[in-house]
Amino acid sequence: MAEQTFDYDVLVIGSGPGGYVAAIRAAQLGLKTACAESRDTLGGTCLNVGCIPSKALLHASEYFEEAASGSLEKFGVKVGKTELDLDQMMAEKTKAVGELTGGIEYLFKKNKVTWLKGRAAFEDAHSIKVGDETVTAQSVIIATGSSVMPLPGVEVDNDGGIVVDSTGALSLPKVPEHMVLIGGGVIGLELGSVWRRLGAKVTCVEFLDQILPGMDGDIRKEGAKLFKKQGIDFRTGTKVTGVTVEGKKAIVTVEPAKGGDSETIEADAVLVCIGRKPNTDGLNLEAAGLKTTERGLIEVDERFETAVDDVYAIGDVVPGLMLAHRAEDEGIAVADNIAGGTGIVNHAIIPSVVYTHPEMAGVGMTEEEAKKAGHELAIGKFPFMGNSRAKTNRETDGFVKIIADKETDRVLGVHIISVLAGTLIAQAAQAMEFGATSEDIALTCHAHPTHAEAMKEAAMAVRGKPIHI
Ligand code: FAD
Ligand code: NAI
Repeated sequence: MAEQTFDYDVLVIGSGPGGYVAAIRAAQLGLKTACAESRDTLGGTCLNVGCIPSKALLHASEYFEEAASGSLEKFGVKVGKTELDLDQMMAEKTKAVGELTGGIEYLFKKNKVTWLKGRAAFEDAHSIKVGDETVTAQSVIIATGSSVMPLPGVEVDNDGGIVVDSTGALSLPKVPEHMVLIGGGVIGLELGSVWRRLGAKVTCVEFLDQILPGMDGDIRKEGAKLFKKQGIDFRTGTKVTGVTVEGKKAIVTVEPAKGGDSETIEADAVLVCIGRKPNTDGLNLEAAGLKTTERGLIEVDERFETAVDDVYAIGDVVPGLMLAHRAEDEGIAVADNIAGGTGIVNHAIIPSVVYTHPEMAGVGMTEEEAKKAGHELAIGKFPFMGNSRAKTNRETDGFVKIIADKETDRVLGVHIISVLAGTLIAQAAQAMEFGATSEDIALTCHAHPTHAEAMKEAAMAVRGKPIHI
């Protein structure tokens, strides 16, 4: 029987950090590769309306707050009256996004990845309709990502600029006087911080008793304390039951999560950020013989292959942490697997970072998870108050917490709250990937004076012998 021929060796659906990385790696491995993307620009949620624009605004708003709050004066830096030019701040964000999405287009050309412009839907496991054209591929990678989870009874209108989701909150036309965040997770804290720094009063309504679900308990507590000090008003244990818009105002109705009397909060911007849902609508998965879980996710094995041969899935559309770097690593691994190699992602060691001020970061197990898994623990904590560089820079909020197994000393998790937490967590992830004990970290020479020395001190604290506290 003649072998079936295909238009492409690999077709990737979606060009987010999962999809574009998978496409580039597949092409590097000599496979004829195409990537279908329905957006006008490449890069997915991350580059267009996620990681990159949010970090651009976090960076710019931090400068604004530093200059406007007078906090630079103690360093002998006097700034005159600070004025906000929001249009310019947005323009710089848009420029950064354009450079990065254009960069992916350049990388596609360089690596000979074909961009098929349009929405993709399965006709069968090897045939995909993109726009009006049907193409065939030996292997298909679904990397369609996720989008904002809607809240029943709350209508988002990003153009109206009053009830918005994360995409709308990245482009508000003016600083709201009062912004209500529905959800005290990552997006709420990052984008709430942006608008608070620029002058908004911010109220965060969180269903659970504590903000930031999934993070280590100590980090959640310390974060809540610091953000409260910065002026965010937290209404935990509270749920939003409805939002109505009256003229230029939104009326948010809330009640205790456990039930009770409702009350209303008036705001001029409401950010709905209660999580994200996988993008599978319109993919016609049934035609490929695929089903989703109850939450709409696509299940895969350790090779990222779905229940259907030659159909793979990676990133936000697959169960696990919805993070760009996880999607990227899966993109590389799946391409390696398709090319006949061995692509592995260690899902137990995926760092996560919240880019507030200070930042919060964690990798591995939280204390709660490690206890639940039956480990006896030895925990070392070191506050930045005892770190010379942090003291010199006047950035002493936060700590490093290292969780080790008491018997083996193997590091199970590291959690940091610090202005540099996002940078410092890389060391912890690498140490854990190499199977480090806390003693290995304690015996590693760390440059002085750096915030990283707090990691070494926390490791020494596991045995009760830090030097500087
Ligand atoms: P996506 O990036 O969602 O890309 C999927 C792409 O597929 C999209 O471009 C979509 O248009 C396309 N697509 C979908 N269906 C089809 C179809 N049928 N045909 C053609 N194309 C299709 N993560 C971090 O790690 N760090 C951060 O700092 C961070 N910040 C964030 C800030 C915000 C405001 C948001 C919303 C998210 C943030 N994230 C962050 C999460 C991160 O953006 C996602 O985890 C990541 O983008 C997932 O990558 P992905 O490749 O799976 O999917
Ligand atoms: P999230 O899951 O982080 O937080 C949602 C919060 O909303 C939770 O605390 C939840 O208890 C609460 N909530 C749910 N329903 C509610 C209701 N009816 N009323 C009040 N509170 C309610 O989701 P978020 O912030 O939308 O972010 C989505 C995902 O995007 C993140 O989980 C993360 O994967 C990704 N992301 C990552 C970033 C990073 O890595 N720095 C930045 C931004 C997003």
